[in-house]
Amino acid sequence: MKSSGIFITGTDTGVGKTVVAGALAAYLRKEGVSVGVMKPMASGTEDSLFLKKCAGVDDPLDWITPVSFKTPLAPYVASQIEKRKVSFALIEKRFKQLKKKYDFLIVEGVGGLLVPLAPRKTCVDLIQLTRFPALVVSRLGLGTINHTLLTLSEMKRNRLQIKGVLFNAEKNQKKGLAEKTNPIQVQKQTEVPVLGELPYMKSISTDKLKTDFNWRSLNPLFKKVLK
Ligand SMILES: Nc1ncnc2c1ncn2[C@@H]1O[C@H](COP(=O)(O)OP(=O)(O)OP(=O)(O)O)[C@@H](O)[C@H]1O
Ligand SMILES: [Mg+2]
Repeated sequence: MKSSGIFITGTDTGVGKTVVAGALAAYLRKEGVSVGVMKPMASGTEDSLFLKKCAGVDDPLDWITPVSFKTPLAPYVASQIEKRKVSFALIEKRFKQLKKKYDFLIVEGVGGLLVPLAPRKTCVDLIQLTRFPALVVSRLGLGTINHTLLTLSEMKRNRLQIKGVLFNAEKNQKKGLAEKTNPIQVQKQTEVPVLGELPYMKSISTDKLKTDFNWRSLNPLFKKVLK
């Protein structure tokens, strides 16, 4: 592990960022690494509780998620409705504290890359704040080629360090032609490494906090992600 952390971004909301971040945290914990987690901004506590359980940490939820809203919208929009400011300074303070406390920190983003977090701030700024390499979680199904390539293109435009793309089977359905060919086609159109696929796991649920990962299929994938 070269960097002291990783940023988990994605092509959209609901693509599996929390599942991937949680699985990675549980994997590192199993390997004996001191690992911390952060979801700097969120609506609700589902993601923070899932990540906290996977990493097995005792940090308070308002450290894992320093900025939280009740309204399930993009943070900047929610902040306007709830008449509260988003404090990047507080996020940075908690980030530094958690980074110091753990050998490796996993930070989950919010929605996709251009989600507004504050005036003139998007998830790009959050990735820049951490200075971590970013892993892109993408859907496996139809539409993902365009979403993945647009995300990578915007990341490059902002000179972000890109770790690679991880395709996630977020739906419990049989693989069709699109699911079989998408990762291959994406790799043909970008030099960013396609690191592999996370299978659908019935024993995982972010809302019910089920964290029984299928390790046999995940170990080789995570070795690649952390290289
Ligand atoms: N590999 C998987 N196996 C089983 N369920 C999955 C998998 N990936 C995602 N899911 C399920 O799909 C839903 C969305 O996943 P997740 O919450 O990780 O997305 P997200 O990208 O973190 O969304 P958000 O933008 O809200 O943070 C959740 O209910 C989760 O349990
Ligand atoms: Mg999430």
